[in-house]
Amino acid sequence: MTVRFMDVFTEWASSYDDTVTGQDPEYKEVFRRYDEILETVAEKASSPVAEFGAGTGNLTQRLLARHEQVLAIEPSPEMRDILINKIPALAVQDGHFLSFEAAEAKSFVSTYAFHHLTDEEKGQAVDLMAAILPADGKIVYADTMFVSETARLETIAEAKTQGFDNLAEDLEREFYPLIPVMEQIFTSRGFDVTFTQYNHFVWLVEAEKMGE
Ligand SMILES: C[S@@+](CC[C@H](N)C(=O)[O-])C[C@H]1O[C@@H](n2cnc3c(N)ncnc32)[C@H](O)[C@@H]1O
Repeated sequence: MTVRFMDVFTEWASSYDDTVTGQDPEYKEVFRRYDEILETVAEKASSPVAEFGAGTGNLTQRLLARHEQVLAIEPSPEMRDILINKIPALAVQDGHFLSFEAAEAKSFVSTYAFHHLTDEEKGQAVDLMAAILPADGKIVYADTMFVSETARLETIAEAKTQGFDNLAEDLEREFYPLIPVMEQIFTSRGFDVTFTQYNHFVWLVEAEKMGE
């Protein structure tokens, strides 16, 4: 699979950290409680931890504060440059959810990244992670999700009413899933999964691999 949306991050990399601190009104709600979301994902992870879509390293820094072995996986060269500048000693891999090398991991984590995959690809990614995780290993991630198709369409319509054209376009272009679909992806693969909402858009997913 080629990695989609890399042109978005070529453009966005240099101003990404301004967006997450709420300086872009269109994305203010998406990034509300951002620090708390990252801190919670870091707290729920166990070492060795592999992070997908590390971006400018905001979750990575929190992982490093808590865990001994942290591998950051990031496909965008522009995001990787910022990440390496911020954390020079970090092990950074040019890879993505469907192509990575992690000999061992007790947890896989990501924030604001899993929606770059179609739902079918999300299932493939969970298979790849499950093959590496031990029983009781975890996938912990936060991302935009919707409880139903109606809720998804209402949110897009609301963004258009507010004049948030970039946000509306983003919600229509990328693959923001429905919670029942994600629940099925995890439970059918032997994970115990919980979903916790943090703002209108973002939910935290904690999926634990059950024993045989
Ligand atoms: C919105 S940023 C999130 C960055 C960071 N995780 C955060 O929470 O602020 C999404 C990141 O996912 C990366 N990404 C895009 N497609 C990806 C894929 N298929 N696999 C892994 N990462 C991907 C992007 O390059 C970008 O760095």
